[in-house]
Amino acid sequence: MDYDPAHAMSRGGSMRQSISRSVSRASRNLEDIFSPSARRTKSTNEDEEALKWAAIEKLPTYSRLRTSLMPALGEDDIYGNQILNKEVDVTKLDGEERARFIDVVFKVAEQDNERILTKLRNRIDRVGITLPTVEVRYDHLTVKADCYTGDRSLPSLTNTVRNMGESLLGLVGIHLAKKAQLTILKDVSGIVKPSRMTLLLGPPSSGKTTLLLALAGKLDKSLDISGEVTYNGYRLNEFVPIKTSAYISQNDLHVGIMTVKETLDFSARCQGVGTRYDLLNELARREKDAGIFPEADVDLFMKASAAQGVKSSLITDYTLKVSIFQH
Ligand SMILES: Nc1ncnc2c1ncn2[C@@H]1O[C@H](COP(=O)(O)OP(=O)(O)O)[C@@H](O)[C@H]1O
Ligand SMILES: [Mg+2]
Repeated sequence: MDYDPAHAMSRGGSMRQSISRSVSRASRNLEDIFSPSARRTKSTNEDEEALKWAAIEKLPTYSRLRTSLMPALGEDDIYGNQILNKEVDVTKLDGEERARFIDVVFKVAEQDNERILTKLRNRIDRVGITLPTVEVRYDHLTVKADCYTGDRSLPSLTNTVRNMGESLLGLVGIHLAKKAQLTILKDVSGIVKPSRMTLLLGPPSSGKTTLLLALAGKLDKSLDISGEVTYNGYRLNEFVPIKTSAYISQNDLHVGIMTVKETLDFSARCQGVGTRYDLLNELARREKDAGIFPEADVDLFMKASAAQGVKSSLITDYTLKVSIFQH
């Protein structure tokens, strides 16, 4: 059976601790409950679901942002009743629960990824939260390099020693080695717009990497740089660019004894959750004011990705699942 979140959302199931069960059960007659063939009606399930969300909403902030409903993954209990979405602590999901959630929610990785991301976007838009964006501009950017030519261009030991010596002489105005100046970027200007993907194309050695490094503020100090790079109007020396931008090199070093999953888990923990926790907090507050309940799959996904200090994260399972189809 295909997983349909709207359908799953409206389903019922077992819930141990909550008061919601006793409330909703009391309103149903006993025959219904004990008759194996009696299927819960859609509206009863919706009521139970709403009660669960209402109970989660009443929790203190710390617990509220860690508690979500695990979507009932299209299963029935032994009596043939549909299982309700179950309350879970997103920091305590075990490996099997995470894997099952990702498997079912992202069944067709490419298509379901877009569906979840769209839902996530809609959830944020619905309560009128606008996410901060960054626009990067580069203006009359020129990058030049001083290069040694001929046999002095090889980074051999003798050359290195000579270069060091000559750079000292250079300080007092004496230049011996033949140098040529290479202009890597010549007066380039442009804008990298937010909320879209930008593709940079060019033949080898055309300066793609140099431009990206310049935008990230990571160019080699020995290069001669002129022009201006700004993020939302701020120059690179007016803020800490590494907090806003990341330059990921074509080469990366990994710890050989760690598995791919461990490596991703480790890097996820090092990155932290950034502003996701604050976003979730604001989102929860506004949804409460507006009387909106979230959808279980999106809520669980967002809360799990904003939970700090989790050793093995749902996001790792997600990354593995989604990146497998991309490469
Ligand atoms: N730090 C540097 N010193 C001297 N030359 C450099 C330096 N960085 C890049 N270059 C030269 O600039 C040119 C463009 O390099 P690069 O930006 O890496 O091109 P691309 O990424 O498009 O292949 C190349 O010829 C490269 O050798
Ligand atoms: Mg390159």
